[in-house]
Amino acid sequence: MITTKTILAQKGKQKIVMLTAYDAITAAMAARAKVDIILVGDSLADTALGYPNTLPISLEAMYHHAAAVARASGEALVVFDLPFLADCGDIPRDVERAGHALKACGCHAVKLEGGAYRVPFIQALVERGIPVMGHLGLMPQHVHRYGGMFVQGRGDAAERLLLEAKALEDAGIFALVLECVPEELGGMVSEAIKVPTIGIGAGRSCDGQVQVIADLLGLLDGKLPKHAKRYALLFEQGARAVESYVDDVRSLRFPEESNCFGDQ
Ligand code: KIV
Repeated sequence: MITTKTILAQKGKQKIVMLTAYDAITAAMAARAKVDIILVGDSLADTALGYPNTLPISLEAMYHHAAAVARASGEALVVFDLPFLADCGDIPRDVERAGHALKACGCHAVKLEGGAYRVPFIQALVERGIPVMGHLGLMPQHVHRYGGMFVQGRGDAAERLLLEAKALEDAGIFALVLECVPEELGGMVSEAIKVPTIGIGAGRSCDGQVQVIADLLGLLDGKLPKHAKRYALLFEQGARAVESYVDDVRSLRFPEESNCFGDQ
């Protein structure tokens, strides 16, 4: 089993591979390929559930999908992404909500977006045995504050991001996602902190990489973000397969005799 300890030990030795999964099917693909970490990302909202961004997804929907992922996750460490406004400063209640992902869904850790203001919550989670993965740089839950999805940490903002990373490290995170920051800053943060960095659009010096499975498999019929790489074209293949099925039914080629049942 991959544990948070395994992940920490991989820093400087072996690149960490993290991939999102949203159900038992995608989790089984990730598990068979032996990814280190499966992230039940809130990108579930704007990929599999058809929302325009990650904000509308509820905690209950996240729990439901997380439990399915955990059931098919094999040896991987399963990380639960806390959705938008899942915590609002009532620490005992917020810890319980995060803990439910471990206690009832079978996840092993939680991820949360945000910088130094998250420190008290992170400390409370870690003290109660809930490992935390941080998330800095582009934080999709802040899309309306940014006015879009843009690269973060350019210019003066780099120093601030570095300080935030150190604050999260001191609070007890076991790993840090860096999303859409300049490659040089990805390298600086990775050198400055002892816990592994896991980049998505954060360059080649990060200690690991994370991708959204819908991008990697080509499951969506849209433009690919610059930081992503498509390894398959499953939307295209799937849509063509369904077209063949539609043709077959309409032209009486399906079902065939072999698909039918006899008396015996
Ligand atoms: O929700 C998600 O998929 C994420 C990754 C982009 C890191 O947070």
